[in-house]
Amino acid sequence: MTWSGGRPSTRVVWQARCKLSQRFVVGMVLSVVVLEGRSAWAAPDAERGKTLYMESCQHCHGARGDGKSEMAAYLTPPPSNLTAKVTQEKSDAVLRKTILEGRPGTAMSGFGGAFTEAQVADMLAYLRSLKP
Ligand code: HEC
Repeated sequence: MTWSGGRPSTRVVWQARCKLSQRFVVGMVLSVVVLEGRSAWAAPDAERGKTLYMESCQHCHGARGDGKSEMAAYLTPPPSNLTAKVTQEKSDAVLRKTILEGRPGTAMSGFGGAFTEAQVADMLAYLRSLKP
């Protein structure tokens, strides 16, 4: 009596279970991909960036990003006008670094611990939308 010939039912049950667990694994992987995709792999979104900007940046850089804020009067150097050519001409990498690490000797502190990569990308998208 051989395994496959003699006990077909056992083999079928084992195969069915195996497929079930495989399906479970595939399902888990897919749901992780879908859930993660929403936060980490979604395209940068200027609207989401604007919400973050309004919460964390506008009291210094102004509601329109032009550096006109109440805080500006008290800060030396004053907060940058983010719509200005000099800022907009900087690369994403340079602006990103300033946002994450801040600028020593100024009131611009680093926000590295405060935002995810995706959120920084959203804010950069918003800053780019301020280009006149
Ligand atoms: C406490 C006030 C303050 C807050 C809050 C603040 N900034 Fe700044 N920011 C500054 C100052 C001051 C500078 C430096 C100006 C300078 O170097 O002349 C600066 C510089 C920058 C620069 C560099 C501009 C350039 O041309 O290099 C960027 C980009 C920037 N801030 C983005 C942000 C973003 C995004 C946020 C919110 C997450 C934020 N800042 C929050 C005060 C602030």
